[in-house]
Amino acid sequence: MSNLTGAMHQHLWRALAAFLLLVVLLQYFLLFSTSDGAGEVPRRPPHHLPSPIEHNSAETWTFDHLRDADNPALNRAKCQAAFPELYYEIDRSVQYWRDRSHTITQEDTEISWRQDAALRVLVHGNQVRILETRHTWEGEGYRKRTRAVLGQIHRALLGAAAAGESAPTAEFAVTVDDQTLIPNAEDDTHTIWAFSRRLIDGDQERHWLIPDFNFWSSPPVAGAFHEMRDRARVYDAHVVEKKQQVIWRGVKWTNEYVRGSLLNVTEGMPWADVEEVDWENKSTIMRVEDMCRYMFVAHTEGRSWSGRLKYLLNCDSLPIIHSLDWTAHFYHLLTPSGADQNYIPVERDFSDLAEKVEWYMAHPRESQRVVDNAVATFRTRYTTPAAEACYWRRLLNGWSEVAFVPDPYETTTAIMNGTTVEQRRLRGIAFEEFVQLQGNYPQVAG
Ligand SMILES: *[C@@H]1O[C@H](CO)[C@@H](O)[C@H](O)[C@H]1NC(C)=O
Ligand SMILES: *[C@@H]1O[C@H](CO)[C@@H](O)[C@H](O)[C@H]1NC(C)=O
Ligand SMILES: *[C@@H]1O[C@H](CO)[C@@H](O)[C@H](O)[C@H]1NC(C)=O
Repeated sequence: MSNLTGAMHQHLWRALAAFLLLVVLLQYFLLFSTSDGAGEVPRRPPHHLPSPIEHNSAETWTFDHLRDADNPALNRAKCQAAFPELYYEIDRSVQYWRDRSHTITQEDTEISWRQDAALRVLVHGNQVRILETRHTWEGEGYRKRTRAVLGQIHRALLGAAAAGESAPTAEFAVTVDDQTLIPNAEDDTHTIWAFSRRLIDGDQERHWLIPDFNFWSSPPVAGAFHEMRDRARVYDAHVVEKKQQVIWRGVKWTNEYVRGSLLNVTEGMPWADVEEVDWENKSTIMRVEDMCRYMFVAHTEGRSWSGRLKYLLNCDSLPIIHSLDWTAHFYHLLTPSGADQNYIPVERDFSDLAEKVEWYMAHPRESQRVVDNAVATFRTRYTTPAAEACYWRRLLNGWSEVAFVPDPYETTTAIMNGTTVEQRRLRGIAFEEFVQLQGNYPQVAG
């Protein structure tokens, strides 16, 4: 084939491709302009593949939970459009370190001050690497939490890669314990990624809040989070059709005051189904989605925050929450009153519980309004897996604004064939290898 006919073929193909694109665009135009609700994207069943057109136009895109809730790969613009109010805690932490005029150093992320349940992590090239662990393996609890948290970061980074984005190279410390016990000297600059912070504790303003491990899964009462979300829907109903009771199950010892108070005020009450769980006795355990059958779901703090809340918020029931000492990454969205009220606030000792339950039972329209607000804010938006992935990626960006830039590589020496050679290698070990380790990762790694 001569060059000339080759060029002609090329032109012909280009013209044909342009024509086909035009036909596709026209079809879309017709589809949108004839659907109900001027210009609204028609609802599709979940798990369809986004068309290239949808994928590229962030300005016209809106979050549709039926389509997008489980998508960890929304790009930065979509994360902002879908979850404009999600990043409060990240902004707070960034501002905290700016106000201190302190750039976080590698020494600030060392974890020798923790006896256990802590690790140091490196993110580079959208990959997760583990640099060091401190007793995250002994004890079933910490092991599960560590794997879950790393899995969450891994998933969020896969999402970044799928969205064509690259997370900044970052190095940080994480604890998977309920409380960090962060050093509390006035000028201390240690900082750590943690599930919660105590509101009255100034030292804990150094924390960076992360979505807790229950966003991955919560065996044995809930299983994988996204599966529980689906199962909970089975009990969707108007508040008047729900069991007219407050439901709670849990152990008392993690917070004798709060949980003991709840057990005491509800004892023998016909409007309450509140009992202690005995982990040894399977018939006392209730799966979280089964709590969605009830009109009221009660939340209680434990040793610090409690991971239960996001599960309860995935029911379409009335959340009852006592005044909280601890906050987590999405709690700033809890609204106790007004047009946007999305839960029922009660005293920390539940002394006003009976009165509130009585009032909301007598006012089903008001009750349903609170439920609808809760569903709109939490279940279909801010506690979705999509939101969680967006949060992690924004966190990496926020952290990088005020923290040191790590060197992801280290130089090691090896003796090869009698001579010493230097090798440059990535620090730590890959997440993929880490989750298959049988024992504890070396306490201190390069
Ligand atoms: C609950 O009641 C028991 C028995 O009266 C009492 O000993 C306990 O202190 C109460 N707990 C709380 C937190 O008030
Ligand atoms: C297990 O819990 C059920 C329900 O509370 C109770 O009826 C039963 O006696 C308990 N069994 C044991 C062995 O404690
Ligand atoms: C190792 O060193 C010997 C002696 O200097 C040399 O003959 C041989 O080719 C080397 N082997 C490799 C694999 O470099």
